[in-house]
Amino acid sequence: MSDHAVRVLETTEHRAASVLFRTTLHAKSGTDEEWARGSRTYQPGSTWGVFDPELIGTARSFDEELTVPGAGRIPLAAVTGVGVRADRTRRGVLTELMRTQLTELAERGTTAAALYPTESPIYGRFGYGASTVAKSYTVDRRAARLRPEVPAGGEISLLDLEETVRRYPEVYAGVAGDRPGRLARSPYWWAVADIHLNRNTDLVRSALHHGPDGVDGLVTYSVKHSGRGHDEKLAAEIIALHAATPSAFAGLWRHLLGLDLIDTVTAHLRPADEPVELLLTDPRHCRIGTTEDELWLRLIDVPAALAARTYTGGEVVIDVVDPLLPANSGRYRVSADGAAPTEAAADLRLGVDTLAMLYLGTWSASSLAGAGRIEELSPSALAGADALFGTRVSSWCGTFF
Ligand SMILES: CC(C)(COP(=O)(O)OP(=O)(O)OC[C@H]1O[C@@H](n2cnc3c(N)ncnc32)[C@H](O)[C@@H]1OP(=O)(O)O)[C@@H](O)C(=O)NCCC(=O)NCCS
Repeated sequence: MSDHAVRVLETTEHRAASVLFRTTLHAKSGTDEEWARGSRTYQPGSTWGVFDPELIGTARSFDEELTVPGAGRIPLAAVTGVGVRADRTRRGVLTELMRTQLTELAERGTTAAALYPTESPIYGRFGYGASTVAKSYTVDRRAARLRPEVPAGGEISLLDLEETVRRYPEVYAGVAGDRPGRLARSPYWWAVADIHLNRNTDLVRSALHHGPDGVDGLVTYSVKHSGRGHDEKLAAEIIALHAATPSAFAGLWRHLLGLDLIDTVTAHLRPADEPVELLLTDPRHCRIGTTEDELWLRLIDVPAALAARTYTGGEVVIDVVDPLLPANSGRYRVSADGAAPTEAAADLRLGVDTLAMLYLGTWSASSLAGAGRIEELSPSALAGADALFGTRVSSWCGTFF
């Protein structure tokens, strides 16, 4: 038995949780002015604290919706602000926090939780799995040329920082599409985005793309200066890029590549299938950098999550193992008709963390089995699962929190 108490914090305790969390990240406490903004990112009733009797650990979440394959949406808890005081680590405090948070989120009817971990070894033990990946790239703007057949795109209009902050939520709702992994973005997330945009010390602005039916794309970027005189270099760093159509995507890139004085255009954590190099006469002027894990997903209500997405192909029975939330453990029949619990014999056995990696289609069942994460109980079941869980476009979140 532990002598810790874990409970949901009152709104008046949120600032203490924020101070503790920042300390765990080795950051200073915010000023009163910063907290006036920061407090807007805390959803009431969704911050947990561990006491011994002082506050020594915290985690919070805010309500989101996650787009799943087939364009359905599931209720999601976006988990963030996780930290344990440095003099109380490695004695099970996070474990208690995660157990309580996930159990209470399950009681509230949340279908899944997700987070962007600071370090990858932390959350697998609690049933989280890396469910999307994202790439970074840098385009040599001075050298890059668009291929002649690339769509012309529409008109561009510029927004300054203030207009970007004001218009971005409405533009996102209209143009972000239904890629698996997309978040609806609650007001709590937009409050975080405002803080980040306003904190940027470089010039920040956006270009809106106007298509035949109105605004159908947006790119927000900052411009960093380095070096001096004739050696000065200007790098545009993409903060956000959303395009509802290939024409809008091409139009936004036509704008970026036409920016005088800019040497490079860099983007981080972009969709794995974002086709920038395909637009260029020489694809090597787009240098692909790292591919990294992005959103880590934890299925809290496995039957609801499996039923919410669509599948293509035959049929497979999966046996899911979830020691932390045992109600999820059991067999599920997955087919083009949907997914539901079954008593039929299992074809594949996997942990709930591995199911999260399969769920948005980022990793194939065959790859996961090859890495020892799925047990194949009947021949050819892996090929069936590859087809069923596969998606037409790469899943991607793009909503860092
Ligand atoms: C990460 C953190 C929350 C872990 O808290 P904690 O109370 O020490 O975690 P626990 O004691 O419950 O650890 C549970 C298990 O996870 C492992 N673990 C915890 N943090 C880990 C890390 N950063 N890397 C690798 N393993 C880790 C522990 O070794 C332990 O393993 P075991 O069960 O095999 O013994 C804490 O170290 C912290 O606040 N770090 C700095 C802030 C941070 O990174 N927060 C995460 C934001 S996403």
